[in-house]
Amino acid sequence: MKKHLASIAFISLACLSAFAQKATQKFPKFDTEAHRGGRGLMPENTIPAMLNAIDLGVTTLEMDTHITADGKVILSHDDTLNPLFTLTPDGKEMSKDEAHKQALLKMNYADIAKFDVGSKPYSKFPEQKKVKVHIPLLEAVIDSVQQYLKAKGKPQVYYNIETKSKPGGDNIYHPAPAEFVKQLMEVIERKEIIHYVIIQSFDKRTIQFLHKKYPQVKTAYLVDIQKSVNEYVTELGYKPYIISPAYKLVTANMIQQCHAQGIKIVPWTVNTSEEIAALKALGVDGIISDYPDLLEK
Ligand code: G3P
Ligand code: CA
Repeated sequence: MKKHLASIAFISLACLSAFAQKATQKFPKFDTEAHRGGRGLMPENTIPAMLNAIDLGVTTLEMDTHITADGKVILSHDDTLNPLFTLTPDGKEMSKDEAHKQALLKMNYADIAKFDVGSKPYSKFPEQKKVKVHIPLLEAVIDSVQQYLKAKGKPQVYYNIETKSKPGGDNIYHPAPAEFVKQLMEVIERKEIIHYVIIQSFDKRTIQFLHKKYPQVKTAYLVDIQKSVNEYVTELGYKPYIISPAYKLVTANMIQQCHAQGIKIVPWTVNTSEEIAALKALGVDGIISDYPDLLEK
């Protein structure tokens, strides 16, 4: 009986400590984010990119999501296949018309996964390593990242996951906000990463919905139009955990206004050492870059 009670106590303690560890995952003091996994170095929004960014020591993996016809959450910045870096299943280049004619929302994942998004040279990122790779499921990304961190004894990273949506694209390129958030959160909850997730969007509708339904989830409001921080907060209707502006919009005053309201400011997409250093000196809370090798640990 004593032995039985002791093992119950041991199991409860182990569960409690695992829960506490997850629940107390702190947001990094200075957040270094690999934009799309670090597309300056590896094919964007792919598993090899995320693992490479972990090797380079980033604190957060930035990624974009879409939903497929069969209801899977996948990583893609674009609403359709992107002819700039996509090859057909038989290794051929695609014309713009061919690539753009089908939205990912209207394709099943099995068909999307046949395309190669990593072998074709991408002139915008000449240093990008070329590997044959497909558009991944978000759940496969999470599994690979969590296994890799464990195998390498690396600290937990944050996932900064963007819902790619716009009011005009509902049910054409992506589901309407409630459905998009529902599908995304199903994966996040099933994979138990809710304690180290940020959901970001330019589309205030998805993060407004998310904030109402899952107030414990950190959100980032992406902005690319100069306004006061008060205006961003007013149009959103609540204070987000982070405001993420296009980095050219950042001023000392904007940083001060964010901090005065208890909001972090993490600009994108900063791709030179000089600009990274200048923004850090100005007092931002993190940097999102295509070149995670430029982000100091
Ligand atoms: O995290 C912000 C950044 O990713 C927004 O720009 O267009 O590359 O998704 P975009
Ligand atoms: Ca993004």
